[in-house]
Amino acid sequence: MADSQHQSIPTHPIAPRVKEHQKKPHVGPDILGYRDHHGKTFGEGSNEWWAPIVSPTDRPRDSTGIVRSRLFVLVASRMETSSGSPKVASTPHTTALTDGLIPTPIRFAFLPSYYPSVDQRFSFGDHGVGQCRQSQRPEPLYTIPPPLHSTTFCHEITNFNRPQSSTKPMNRAKAAKSPPLSFSANYGIKKGDTVSVYMPMTWHAVATFLACARIGAIHSVVFAGFSSESLRDRIKDCKSRVLITSDESRRGGKAIATKAIVDAALKECPEVEHVLVQRRTGNTVAWTEGRDKWWHEETLKVPNYCPPEVMSSEDPLFILYTSGSTGKPKGVVHTTAGYLLGAALTVKYVFDVHPEDKFACMADVGWITGHTYIVYGPLLNGVTTTVFESTPVYPTPSRYWQVVEKHQITHFYTAPTAIRLLRRLGEHHTQAHDLSTVRVLGSVGEPINPEAWDWYNEHVGKRQCAIVDTWWQTETGSIMITPFPGAIETKPGSATVPFFGIEPVILDPVSGEVLEGNSVEGILCIRNPWPSIARTVWKDNNRYLDTYMRPYPGFFYTGDGAARDEHGYIWIKGRVDDVINVSGHRLSTAEIESALILHRGVAETAVIGVSDDLTGQTVYAFVTLKPEFTYNPNDEGSLAKELILQVRKVIGPFAAPKKIIIVPDLPKTRSGKIMRRIMRKISAGEGDQLGDLSTLADPSVVDAIKAKVATSP
Ligand code: WT7
Repeated sequence: MADSQHQSIPTHPIAPRVKEHQKKPHVGPDILGYRDHHGKTFGEGSNEWWAPIVSPTDRPRDSTGIVRSRLFVLVASRMETSSGSPKVASTPHTTALTDGLIPTPIRFAFLPSYYPSVDQRFSFGDHGVGQCRQSQRPEPLYTIPPPLHSTTFCHEITNFNRPQSSTKPMNRAKAAKSPPLSFSANYGIKKGDTVSVYMPMTWHAVATFLACARIGAIHSVVFAGFSSESLRDRIKDCKSRVLITSDESRRGGKAIATKAIVDAALKECPEVEHVLVQRRTGNTVAWTEGRDKWWHEETLKVPNYCPPEVMSSEDPLFILYTSGSTGKPKGVVHTTAGYLLGAALTVKYVFDVHPEDKFACMADVGWITGHTYIVYGPLLNGVTTTVFESTPVYPTPSRYWQVVEKHQITHFYTAPTAIRLLRRLGEHHTQAHDLSTVRVLGSVGEPINPEAWDWYNEHVGKRQCAIVDTWWQTETGSIMITPFPGAIETKPGSATVPFFGIEPVILDPVSGEVLEGNSVEGILCIRNPWPSIARTVWKDNNRYLDTYMRPYPGFFYTGDGAARDEHGYIWIKGRVDDVINVSGHRLSTAEIESALILHRGVAETAVIGVSDDLTGQTVYAFVTLKPEFTYNPNDEGSLAKELILQVRKVIGPFAAPKKIIIVPDLPKTRSGKIMRRIMRKISAGEGDQLGDLSTLADPSVVDAIKAKVATSP
């Protein structure tokens, strides 16, 4: 039965380049124990791990044909849905060691759960680890050798001199005697304090993450495309006293006035006492004596060795702000052990990394993808990571492929938007470069359309690579649904199957009931907690519960719709809440609406996402004006520009609406609720399929909107 089901899956050839590598030793953390769906146990060592996965007939499926895999590394206990945060049991002590600015051994130890309601299935006592007691100081279970760590930096055009960092092995005994890092000592930052970071894509950003982790400071990285107002709100929310930034940044050939944005933000943040400034372009920037300090001067003053802070597994590692259904962004909190475990394991198994590999994730460090797959994941596995500054098309659409060729990249991870853009610009760019080192191609951030998938496979992968379409979120910390390279057959457009230990469920949107079996569609939720689940919203646990735990009690709510097809494969259908996904960037309609309403002329506004061939979705803003506001109706263009500027100023350039549509009125129900559905339909060119309009207070607005959309530039 299982066999015939398996046969009927339309398969893509298992990537030959990945296959060659599978027998070679892996790097990174060893799995402590693994039991597959049939209860068969596998011991330490990653080679054995492949056995059940690689053999197609053995692949675990449950009675309905759903593919399941389970990894027993951490012990997950119960998820408390209304009274508290989910509890994921992990190590009482995790020590992250990172030497100075470049990381050296990172050691973890994971213990079985000490929570009472441990499910037997999650025990890994078979391998001796279960004998550890909470009170014992655990022996590190694995150590990542220091020489493997390195970072590749791809700077934009101007070849920036890479500062020398000491690669000499440290005399630890001697080093331990030196005074603690003065960054921490002078700035008074201690374990548990927050440090805000607003930096471009240079190695300094990676060093900043690791330096914070080293001293137990909680970093809050703000994507450098956010405006000063957004930065200000995020600094204020987590009350940082220290901010790390740069003089300027470069993007697509333009200089960006990073420090000036910071200065504007800090006008309203008197609590920030120290600003550490990395010199990126060297252009003159405004300076606040006493507060601002140059990175290159300050780092000369500190000793080479800084003793690591000992952290508990549940101590926060970082905060990352993300948008949701409401106007105010949430500070999602990730922890030391759980998050890092998720980062390490997913890089290891989703990307099948081996020694000497060179990992290139093209995201920005300011988003979760950069946190997990530029910084922590690859470095935890001891593989080289790449910091790419620039855009895929600057100075030419060959930029990515030049990087792949020059740095012999083995893993390339990007968003469908970039793939669609490069596909449009022609194959000759990929043909001009040697891409033969690449084995695994990753896609993340939005659903990938089959045309883009095929192009990626054909022109970048040359049909030799595995493509992993990875679904996850800021809140999940690491990849949740994904194929395993060379082991799970792929279907272009499907994120395929859950990662080990992840239990996705599809719920009926109305009843909230679990839709069992295959060929179902509904709301995507997750049944049990996993190591890297976000633990809370910074200083607002109730909001965390409201957002993720209460919509469908008993489950973690993702905000995505999904289908499970006849083979048990999962297809992500996009957001079901008021979140828009533009180029893999998550935008909240409520946030954009709040930005627009601040304009003196705006009375009301409704923001919607409209599908776009290139960026996945794009932002349309419908606006009504205050009666007393006067403007030239023959020049709506300049008012639209003003409003776009308003959004750029309040949120950041990446959130700018593509269209501003000024309308006499918004479609509303008699009770005053804005009917976004009508604007969505009209904008999608489906104005003739509006359905039931009987609840509309004033049906004549529909024609006015249709006319405006039709003529809007
Ligand atoms: C949302 C999360 C962590 C990834 C970067 C964005 C969408 C993410 C996929 C995928 C379809 C995807 C979802 C999700 N998404 N990956 N492979 N296929 N959709 O992180 O900003 O937290 O956004 O991105 O809608 O909910 P994020």
